[in-house]
Amino acid sequence: MTLPTNLHCPRITTREHGLELSRIVAGMWRMNEWGMSVEQRVAFIEQCIELGVSSFDHADIYGDYGVEGVFGEALRAQPSLRGRIQLVSKCGIKLVSSKRPQHTIQHYDTTAAHIIASAEESLRQLATDHLDLLLIHRPDPLMDFDEVAEAFTRLQRDGKVKHVGVSNFTRHQFECLNRRVALATNQVEFSPMVVAPMFDQTFDGLQDLGIAPMAWSPLGGGRLFTSNDARASEVRSVIGEIAGRMEKPFASVLFAWIMQLPSRPIPLTGTGRFESIREAVLGATFTLERGDWFRILRAARGHEVA
Ligand SMILES: NC(=O)c1ccc[n+]([C@@H]2O[C@H](COP(=O)([O-])OP(=O)(O)OC[C@H]3O[C@@H](n4cnc5c(N)ncnc54)[C@H](OP(=O)(O)O)[C@@H]3O)[C@@H](O)[C@H]2O)c1
Repeated sequence: MTLPTNLHCPRITTREHGLELSRIVAGMWRMNEWGMSVEQRVAFIEQCIELGVSSFDHADIYGDYGVEGVFGEALRAQPSLRGRIQLVSKCGIKLVSSKRPQHTIQHYDTTAAHIIASAEESLRQLATDHLDLLLIHRPDPLMDFDEVAEAFTRLQRDGKVKHVGVSNFTRHQFECLNRRVALATNQVEFSPMVVAPMFDQTFDGLQDLGIAPMAWSPLGGGRLFTSNDARASEVRSVIGEIAGRMEKPFASVLFAWIMQLPSRPIPLTGTGRFESIREAVLGATFTLERGDWFRILRAARGHEVA
């Protein structure tokens, strides 16, 4: 299916007077699997910017602590890119890795010392002097809200981080921290394969605060295309039918379904194929009829609404 040539990604503010991101954010988790040379990485980032997809999602741990460095290599090769993009990163997970021989067990660390050290290391790897957004990657049972807020505030005061937020937090955890420091987003898993945030107050709570969530693995990490389980097959067939009728690509319908929610989820792509990023952006240009939206929900949950 040929996509319009004049396609351009809109922008979104995650909260009033807050961080502005592209409506679709390019996720970099899998970047090391794409086998791109530095020149290809520069070209990929440039293509995304041209399309309006100017925000890039990272974490210290992506690619076994390697993705930020390879992305940073592209920014070093073409320094003018930095001023045209927004960089998101995360901290708080400690992986067992040959890159971190001191880690003897996979665990979380949300102490102020680790948050600050991790953010500073992300700056070095990404070859930048600031992150546009830093997230706590996962809620940590040993997390002290006051200490996290203090670390965030210090990083902001020092100009190392412009905005702060969290990932995979419950509504209550989000609100506890948001009372101490203004959070820009809660990045959670959401797709027809994982609909919990619509029903466990995550999205309702954010909508109430006027804060947009970010949605990771919008294609179920690819399972929507590849899984043979009954639920994935049914979702695939329903979306396929709607996409055929609307004459839109399959993935565009899925991205439209996500962005239609009033909490304004910001989907993260996971692909290194530029054409797939264009399909995601197309999803920002149309909405589904309410009946079709609910057909996808029914397939996702395996039952009708009551
Ligand atoms: N905060 C968190 O805890 C967390 C956790 C996980 C991920 N994330 C973020 O979310 C981003 C997106 O997650 P994700 O990578 O799981 O996203 P996703 O879009 O659900 O899955 C991407 C995978 O689907 C495959 N895919 C896409 N279109 C396809 C098609 N038409 N046919 C077959 N396979 C297809 C991609 O392969 P191709 O590359 O071949 O297109 C890729 O392997 C990550 O990059 C990361 O930034 C955050």
